Amino acid sequence: METALTNKTIVLGVTGSIAAYKAADIASRLTKAGAKVNVVMTEAATRFISPLALRSITGRAVATDMFDLESQYTIEHISLAEAADVVVVAPATASLIARAAAGISDDMLTLTLLATKAPIILAPAMNVNMFENSVTQENLAKLKARGFIIVDPAHGRLASGRVGKGRLADIDQIMGAIQQVLAKSGDLAGKKIVVTAGGTREPIDPVRHIGNPSSGKMGYAIAQAARDRGAKVTLITAPASLLPPPGMAVMPVKTALEMKQAVTKAVKGADALIMAAAVADYQPKSVARAKIKKDALALTLELVRTPDILAEAKGKFLKVGFAAESEDIVANAKKKLKNKQLDIIVANDITDKKSGFGVDTNKVTLIDKKGKVEPLPLLSKREVADKILDKLLVFLPH
Ligand code: CTP
Repeated sequence: METALTNKTIVLGVTGSIAAYKAADIASRLTKAGAKVNVVMTEAATRFISPLALRSITGRAVATDMFDLESQYTIEHISLAEAADVVVVAPATASLIARAAAGISDDMLTLTLLATKAPIILAPAMNVNMFENSVTQENLAKLKARGFIIVDPAHGRLASGRVGKGRLADIDQIMGAIQQVLAKSGDLAGKKIVVTAGGTREPIDPVRHIGNPSSGKMGYAIAQAARDRGAKVTLITAPASLLPPPGMAVMPVKTALEMKQAVTKAVKGADALIMAAAVADYQPKSVARAKIKKDALALTLELVRTPDILAEAKGKFLKVGFAAESEDIVANAKKKLKNKQLDIIVANDITDKKSGFGVDTNKVTLIDKKGKVEPLPLLSKREVADKILDKLLVFLPH
């Protein structure tokens, strides 16, 4: 699965703290998430953890010495700083913090901090007295004022045996800070996007409903892609076979009516509404209060139309809809685009087995309000999600 970390270049700085071994876990998690991790170690860090260990985990060269002729970074030693999407120093010692605050660049890591234009995250780890010392606090305040992000150390038992603030923050917290920073620089930063997903269920009686096999995969992929590109996401989800994704507001609903209410609430102040949910077009006229018994040989259900949520949603936000078609795909989708006053419609060919319900791939055609028709090849739902968001960006006011 792609995340904010996929294909990102991350410099992981490691300094000489007893917590240096935890850098291996961070390097491993970042690498597994698809990031290119360039580890830069101070001389002291190499005494706590071997560069070879970090090289094995990341599969990439580890920079230790500015004048190391073997290193691929020697000739252009600021290339690391320039390639970085984010620089993370974990653990960061008092000495590293002091040198960074003073603008000293006497080794590969401090040089990288000085030369990079990427956001910098520091996760301090040290003895409680060193951390609380006013000089360390002043240095941290200085760095914060310059835009450094500090992941505060945790309270707990320190290597010295003392209990206090100074332990390297939880790895989850450091990972979260990295993800947040990368998403913030995304092209949807600051945009509010409402996504619907899943298949609505219209009750017949207390134990039965009219439903559809929507897995929610397409809508969830859009919500996750938008989150990873920096958007503030609200996911309104009808029943789906997926766990609620972190980093967004999730509103669970069951019926088309509930979804309409949730959408009406969520679109206030939104920049876009993307309706990937498979909304039932009909609901039983009345819901039986007790379970319907099989007394009769036949049963007729009277159905009435559900509200067309997308057509009825009105406001300044952009509207993106889906069209599940089996024939005349483009012509039918264009009709829906016009009738529902959409900005973009995503037309699905439901006759293709690799597309649509339940599967991880989708083959769609994007059609926009200017009449541009863009057929896409068979892609993963995440790739389709990013293509939809690319198109949305064209119409979003800057
Ligand atoms: N939609 C909606 N409210 C409904 C039904 C659908 O908001 N009551 C949205 C869907 O989420 C989707 C688009 O409208 O984005 C689909 O439009 P629809 O006209 O229902 O197309 P199909 O589902 O393809 O159905 P049909 O072709 O039978 O009209």
